[in-house]
Amino acid sequence: MTNLLVTGGCGFIGANFIHYLLSEPNFSGRIVNMDSLTYAGNLDNLSSLQECSDERYVFVHADICNAEAVKKVFEAYHIDTVCHFAAESHVDRSIVAPDAFIKTNIIGTFTLLEEARRHQGRLKRFHHISTDEVFGSLGHTGHFSEETPYDPSSPYSASKASSDHLVRAYHRTYGLPVSISNCSNNYGPYQFPEKLIPLMILNGLEGKPLPVYGEGANIRDWLYVRDHCRAVWRIMRAGVIGETYNIGGECEMTNIDVVQTLCHILDEMVPPQKNGPRSDLITFVNDRPGHDLRYAIDCTRLKDELHWQPQESFETGIRKTVQWYLDNPQWVQRVQSGTYLKWIEKNYRHRES
Ligand code: NAD
Ligand code: TYD
Repeated sequence: MTNLLVTGGCGFIGANFIHYLLSEPNFSGRIVNMDSLTYAGNLDNLSSLQECSDERYVFVHADICNAEAVKKVFEAYHIDTVCHFAAESHVDRSIVAPDAFIKTNIIGTFTLLEEARRHQGRLKRFHHISTDEVFGSLGHTGHFSEETPYDPSSPYSASKASSDHLVRAYHRTYGLPVSISNCSNNYGPYQFPEKLIPLMILNGLEGKPLPVYGEGANIRDWLYVRDHCRAVWRIMRAGVIGETYNIGGECEMTNIDVVQTLCHILDEMVPPQKNGPRSDLITFVNDRPGHDLRYAIDCTRLKDELHWQPQESFETGIRKTVQWYLDNPQWVQRVQSGTYLKWIEKNYRHRES
């Protein structure tokens, strides 16, 4: 029986991971979700578990930078495995206000590592969730492998790179049983609408402008969130301690293609009442400073060694995603009534070219 600490479980990927794991027959144990509920953390994402008082799930409202709180959780719940998702995760926000990124992503990871080290005797694995953005930008060719040197561009990716280095150092120096995964862009249910795909879905439904940075030529490698969760669990069960695994969708698309695809799917699923096609809403705005041109993951190691394959194509995953936002208007309404989206509108997206 595992006593698994999941950090950041009220966020997008963390919540999907908890739902996934509790439906997995080969998971037996208890999940302790530690989350400080920032603007991106949402108890609604896991309300079904609270409501049916699933005994395998506990929520602890606490900050990973708070060493006392982290200590209490490790001791009270006999934590023997960690899956660390908690982070500040939005590049645009890191450009405007980097402080929280340094605190949570670097100091928070350090605080968890220190406490994990105190329980090294019983600790089976500390799995650290990271991003392909630590590798910086690709040109028009090539892929990121596990050996690609780190070259982060934004305060977000630099803070994640720093946390990856700390995790690796705790393995080399103290023998902490760590693993790391660096994943490409995720999409799916519960994603906060500051990120490209949910923002475009919700703005498209409301007939608002669809802001595309620069010329929309930047390329991301998209992965459906449940496929990411399956990969993480595979690594946690069978990944070699001390190793890093890249996770990607092998699904490179330019931003403008993603937005055009969403416009077509939205027009088909919810035909526009008065106005023309939703692609008329596309608005090119000033580019993001330091905007990485292209990300593309080579996930051969994960496929060959751990026999993982994504189950969703972009076509199937994006339809499920749009359908989820259509089926959950109350979630959308609650998320949109928060102050954060207004903040980002004011501080960031005022820069129409
Ligand atoms: P998110 O912003 O949706 O959620 C982050 C969660 O962490 C929230 O619930 C928030 O309340 C919590 N949190 C933040 N600061 C905290 C703190 N100090 N203490 C405790 N909890 C705190 O993020 P996400 O998109 O779900 O990303 C999860 C992880 O996956 C991050 O580490 C991110 O770097 C990584 N990642 C994300 C993507 C992506 O496309 N979203 C891709 C690759 C890797
Ligand atoms: P985002 O979802 O913020 O993820 P990341 O920056 O971590 O890759 O952005 C994905 C891509 O979409 C990125 O190239 C920036 C671009 N983008 C827009 O063009 N418009 C937007 O409103 C947002 C949020 C992102």
